[in-house]
Amino acid sequence: MSVLVTGGAGYIGSHTCVELIGAGYDVVIADNFSNSSPEAIRRVGEITGKNLKYYDCDIRDAEHLGKIFAENKISSVIHFAGLKAVGESVQKPLEYYDNNIGGTIVLLEAMKNAGCKKLVFSSSATVYGDGNASPLKEDMPTGETTNPYGSTKLYIERILQDIHVSDSEWGITILRYFNPIGAHKSGLIGENPRDIPNNLMPYISQVAVGRLCRLNVFGDDYDTRDGTGVRDYIHVSDLADGHVKALKKTLAENGVRIYNLGTGKGVSVLELIRAFEKASGKKIDYKIAPRRDGDVVVCYADADKAMLELGWRAKRDILEMCEDTWRWQKNNPEGF
Ligand code: NAD
Ligand code: UFG
Repeated sequence: MSVLVTGGAGYIGSHTCVELIGAGYDVVIADNFSNSSPEAIRRVGEITGKNLKYYDCDIRDAEHLGKIFAENKISSVIHFAGLKAVGESVQKPLEYYDNNIGGTIVLLEAMKNAGCKKLVFSSSATVYGDGNASPLKEDMPTGETTNPYGSTKLYIERILQDIHVSDSEWGITILRYFNPIGAHKSGLIGENPRDIPNNLMPYISQVAVGRLCRLNVFGDDYDTRDGTGVRDYIHVSDLADGHVKALKKTLAENGVRIYNLGTGKGVSVLELIRAFEKASGKKIDYKIAPRRDGDVVVCYADADKAMLELGWRAKRDILEMCEDTWRWQKNNPEGF
């Protein structure tokens, strides 16, 4: 039996495929390559020594998805496919609702038709909005999302709850990621933003490699240790391992479960810059810029539930996250 990985050529999907194969699972990927490249899949093959089966498929294409389920024995799905740029989602809300929510509905329909009722879904800490204080716990209220991207994650979480109410045979695990950074140890796969990065870590690493000249630090007058924003950065390979643990639980038990995947520790923008400088030996040129609209000040996880119920905890520290990001960036200055 295989795991269908939607969005498996993307940043988190490709790292998760490595861990799934390492744990003995057979993997089939469906990706439309709107934000990735088949080269990532080839490199996952290089790392694992396996030739991966993949389909160039948009998950909104019901017929194509039906064919994938007919051609493969799929017991479960890990669903990464979606658009993820917060700013772009404000400009193009319909694209985000269509791709993320529309795509998920078509996928769920195809799963139902194929009798496959086991799903792990990529959600985000963004569903907590800014109404809760960190550390964020899974049972805190959600709902005050501040952009269409965040709203798609929230609505999909609700759709998944409703599916289980309608049919208790579904086993669904919702994973709320904090801030994934880092890259596989091999330096062969990593984050590959198409345009100028919106997120902090890819911006820093592109400054380090000389693709961008200077980082803007968005605000140094917040009520934090050094005035800059605090986030829970988690190594993408730890995150990937969390999916393997979540999948095992999902296959064994029905019901809907929600877990934070974070380290439980907050790191400021300036602390991340210092760690990256140490890991890379490069000076990161930055300037203090105005606060960015919509930014929460502090966001980190309470990660105990995943430990208690999945036996998962993040292992890699911030220096290792920076070293691995740097290896990937240095070896692949232009990405894939
Ligand atoms: P990514 O863009 O690297 O990967 C997403 C993949 O999905 C890409 O390969 C893209 O080509 C594919 N895709 C998009 N729409 C598709 C469609 N309609 N049909 C088929 N394939 C499609 O992003 P990522 O960082 O790997 O994120 C994976 C998931 O995790 C996303 O759902 C994202 O919203 C979620 N997430 C990411 C972060 C983060 O900071 N990276 C944080 C929280 C949640
Ligand atoms: N930052 C800068 N300069 C930059 C980019 C970011 O100073 O060029 C700062 C931000 O102000 C923030 C911190 O770095 O304080 C982290 O910002 P990111 O954009 O890297 O990450 P966010 O926490 O804002 O958002 C990310 C994803 C969202 C997701 C959220 C929670 O982009 O999609 O994590 O998982 F919802």
